[in-house]
Amino acid sequence: MNVVKRYICGFAILSLAFLNVQCKGKEKDEKQENTTQKMDSVSIEKKEYGTTPDGKKVDVYTLKNQKGMEVNIMTYGGIITSLKVPNKAGASEEVVIGFNNLTQYTKDNPYFGALIGRYGNRIAKGKFSLDGTEYQLATNNGKNALHGGPEGFHRVIWTAEEAKGGDVATLKLKYVSKDMEEGYPGNLTVFVTYTLNKDNALDVLYEATTDKKTIVNLTQHSYFNLSGDFTKTILDDEVVIDADKLVPVDADLIPTGKLTDVANTPFDFRKPRVIGKDIEAKDDQLIKGKGYDHCWVLNKQNTGDRFVASAYNATSGRLLEVYSDQPGIQLYTGNFLDGTLPMRNGGTYAHRTGLCLETQHYPDSPNQKDFPTTVLNPGENYKTKTTFKFSVK
Ligand code: GLA
Repeated sequence: MNVVKRYICGFAILSLAFLNVQCKGKEKDEKQENTTQKMDSVSIEKKEYGTTPDGKKVDVYTLKNQKGMEVNIMTYGGIITSLKVPNKAGASEEVVIGFNNLTQYTKDNPYFGALIGRYGNRIAKGKFSLDGTEYQLATNNGKNALHGGPEGFHRVIWTAEEAKGGDVATLKLKYVSKDMEEGYPGNLTVFVTYTLNKDNALDVLYEATTDKKTIVNLTQHSYFNLSGDFTKTILDDEVVIDADKLVPVDADLIPTGKLTDVANTPFDFRKPRVIGKDIEAKDDQLIKGKGYDHCWVLNKQNTGDRFVASAYNATSGRLLEVYSDQPGIQLYTGNFLDGTLPMRNGGTYAHRTGLCLETQHYPDSPNQKDFPTTVLNPGENYKTKTTFKFSVK
């Protein structure tokens, strides 16, 4: 190789090496940028919320992403105290019923935003049997037991563990319900994990184990008003429920044991139906429920997580889609809201100003042999997930 060739060759090698370093540097910069973006995309922050009348400290966690969704969850009852999402103009506003202080939550209220357990919905006369032993729960809803009893899981303090992992923020709540607490057998260890992602979806993962045969049916009791204006009712919202059948009830809202077709009834939500369209119809089930307060038999059971229901408010453009692996969903249209409970900034929550979409097993399953079982045995893992996904259209 002559000198000139050697020189060119050397120059080429040096240039390549330089380019390589440059590129690596750039790669590194991009990586750093990505990591920073990821880390910042969903955040979680803890604050003191207050002290219960019996002196227990309660914290509130704020989960927030960069698409305008913000969820506040407190350790008392695992309650969602606030949930803000954007409307079609991009304005982030409150969409769940709630109070602005702990004291109000510790007074009587219809489960605003709360975690419900050990058994969501009604159990006839508060009685059920397991292996020949009869258990008697408190009857806190006329003759029946409702939503796990007077204290249930909605008036207890949960311990909390927070985690932030880039595109999601999670809050893992834990509660140990003692053997015979509220009348239920077995020490039940319960975890409920709320996860906010960067695309405006909130997952609720429920997990439980027991040391004695028991029954479990957990759910979330948020009241949504997608208009963002709590002086308005939810009657104009369009609801979809992917269910061909309903669980009809008697006058005490206990299942009759039969399942009926929704076709040609006000309970057919397979295509979008405006809630107010037939809510006052002279329909036996609507009269018994004082509106919609029923459990639907969801389609595609045993397929795991799938779309189950949605609610849409045309004025705000907000769409809430619910995904779940559960067999049933209770649509409750706030029929018992009566203008006595205070809104956050003055005024009171009037009739039908919030709707609940409570994924769950059918009511009174422990006494209905043809319904899917709600029994949990020692060694088994209760694990179920529901997602509330928000968007606009
Ligand atoms: C559930 C019940 C309703 C009512 C509300 C709270 O949705 O099915 O009947 O008790 O909780 O008032």
